[in-house]
Amino acid sequence: MRTITIAIDGFSSTGKSTLGRQLANYLDYVFVDSGAMYRAVTLYGLQKGFISETGFDSEKLIASLTDISLEFVNNSEGIAEIHLNGENVEKEIRTLEISEYVSPVATLSEVRKKLVELQRKLGEGRGVVMDGRDIGTVVMPNADLKIFMNASREVRAQRRYKELLNRGENISYEEVLENVTERDNIDSTRQLSPLKQADDAIVVDNSEMNISDQFHMILQLAKDRIAGRI
Ligand code: CDP
Repeated sequence: MRTITIAIDGFSSTGKSTLGRQLANYLDYVFVDSGAMYRAVTLYGLQKGFISETGFDSEKLIASLTDISLEFVNNSEGIAEIHLNGENVEKEIRTLEISEYVSPVATLSEVRKKLVELQRKLGEGRGVVMDGRDIGTVVMPNADLKIFMNASREVRAQRRYKELLNRGENISYEEVLENVTERDNIDSTRQLSPLKQADDAIVVDNSEMNISDQFHMILQLAKDRIAGRI
């Protein structure tokens, strides 16, 4: 059976990774969460003190990029988790603190060059589902199926707020809403590879859709592509 490439892009907290993992799992494809990579670089910057409340030394971060090694390793349940220089940082990268610093890091051309190269390598020559902001436009412009996800800002902030509360973070809904709004703004207005819908992407607004309905709808699109029906 032919394997395909699936690009999922969209605004923050639209459930791209949830959908991506479900599809990759069902189709037995590799799943690449490109946002996790930008988050891990941001974590590195914080650990090294290049990023802090008082400022962002982008030159130092850029100079250290060669010291950063990223890898996805499957955990005991078969779920791919990101490792930064050999250490599993899957939990650390999901905090609101990282979300607050990640978008400026993702505007840097040197960072994007390194990560896009890695993303392309991970998807090369196999069935892949990749999620992010520039997957259908820059990383895999020839993807067989492109999905662009959106939902109302309040719905997205509410979903992310619940997720962070469940992880034990002490944050307010307002803080999360502010972060979602700010990231949407930085991500879609940056010069390099801004978040935008590819011309051939299928737009899915999941404000009123449950996870299972969404999965089955997009799985059908993937099956049609695999069978060469579309
Ligand atoms: O899951 P969530 O919507 O919170 O975001 P994410 O996918 O983890 O991505 C975190 C951040 O990384 C985004 O807000 C972007 O600034 C950046 N990013 C990017 O620039 N390009 C990508 N392909 C993926 C993420």
